[in-house]
Amino acid sequence: MDKRHLWINGKWVEGEKYEPLHSPYTGEVLAHIAQATIEDAKKAIEGAHAAFQAFKDRPAYERAQILANAVHLLEQRKEEAARIIASEAAKPIKAARMEIVRTIQTYQFAAEEAKRIYGERIPMDAAVGGENRIGFTMRVPMGVVSAITPFNFPFNLVAHKVGPAIAAGNTIVLKPAEKTPLSALFLAELFQEAGLPDGVLQIIPGLGPELGPVLNTHPYVKNITFTGSPRVGKEIRKLAEFRKVTLELGSNSALIVDEGIDADAIMDRVVEGAFSYNGQVCISIQRIYVHRSLYETFLKKLVARTKQLVIGSPFDEKTDVTAVINKDSLERLASWIEEAVQMGAKVECGGEVQGPVMTPAVLTAVPHQAKVIQEEVFGPIVSVMPFESMEDAIRLVNDSRYGLNAGVYTRDIHRAFVCVHEIETGGVLINDIPTYRLDHMPYGGIKDSGTGREGVKFAVTEMMEEKFVSIHWR
Ligand code: SIN
Repeated sequence: MDKRHLWINGKWVEGEKYEPLHSPYTGEVLAHIAQATIEDAKKAIEGAHAAFQAFKDRPAYERAQILANAVHLLEQRKEEAARIIASEAAKPIKAARMEIVRTIQTYQFAAEEAKRIYGERIPMDAAVGGENRIGFTMRVPMGVVSAITPFNFPFNLVAHKVGPAIAAGNTIVLKPAEKTPLSALFLAELFQEAGLPDGVLQIIPGLGPELGPVLNTHPYVKNITFTGSPRVGKEIRKLAEFRKVTLELGSNSALIVDEGIDADAIMDRVVEGAFSYNGQVCISIQRIYVHRSLYETFLKKLVARTKQLVIGSPFDEKTDVTAVINKDSLERLASWIEEAVQMGAKVECGGEVQGPVMTPAVLTAVPHQAKVIQEEVFGPIVSVMPFESMEDAIRLVNDSRYGLNAGVYTRDIHRAFVCVHEIETGGVLINDIPTYRLDHMPYGGIKDSGTGREGVKFAVTEMMEEKFVSIHWR
């Protein structure tokens, strides 16, 4: 059976212990994965620190070239990469291919951003005492970045951390999701072939609770970037002390559909936003607020379109919906539907457990306090509620611990601006779904959805220090 080791200092290093990795769809063992120990993590951090001493001085054009080389190599192996995602994450192959297209773009943006690291001229003589000085800022790399990534975009959300770290001149220790380590390990040799010096990228699969403390507190770690749950995000923030921390946490993203919207015209997008990758996307549509005048028509079309989704193997070209990531998740989703029903909700379609799959579910009459509204579902369940006025819809969208993205379809420019102004989320998408993301957009939340922003340029900023320089020249 294929054994996959740790990647430390440019070499495969055997682990003390290996765990089987199972396909979420078939249950078969895909590989045995080395589980890093605390000692391995320390070795990786120390190696990354040593590598930083030389890497921080590599010119921007060289860092850009390494990233561009990685883009080229990934282009050549994109089908292989997509199939890794399909096998370990059970992402339908067409969505997995799309993820690789995005990953290539993310590294391409990182290559470009490596050459756009500017400072700012400060007009020193704007203040009394600032005469005869030239002041400016320089952005400098920070050192070792510790990155913990989730299972749902095992290539692209890794790229959103690795790409900016390299662009900035940092080194990085990556702990990929326990459920999807193969995608991350694929990068090891790819970046080595691209010319990345040994130790700049360390990849140590293992258990979050075990490795988290050292990854977040080791004195050589200067910057932490995490995508995952608010519970873990809170712990990281406590452990991190004065380190810079970027946290991309959960969401229960909402979509508002105003009166006068053509339901047919937006239905494909809505279904995609709710059910792509089984809703296991932070900005998946979880709540839909539809103007009362449109509600019945919209719901009928949504249910009809949802029932057309093709359920099957992640490797089948036609598949839209497949296994959720694991049994725990499946059981949690089923119990949340059950809770909503107990509270008075109606299941309009789906919600059945078929082996490792949950059929895509549309719920109505869901009380606002139900878990499927309040918590992050991260599964193929969407709730649809009518609203009477835009003020009511905005109030319901905002009555949430989360604030990542919200989408609003409206023909009314005034209401569009009211939404932009009033909705409390990191991103507001007018005439689009909240699930809309391009990889150079600023991306991140407020409230329990996190702090800091990704989107390559913004992540590079998060991963650098601003150093101020004053020159007294006369
Ligand atoms: C996420 O789930 O946070 C990422 C969504 C995306 O990149 O499309």
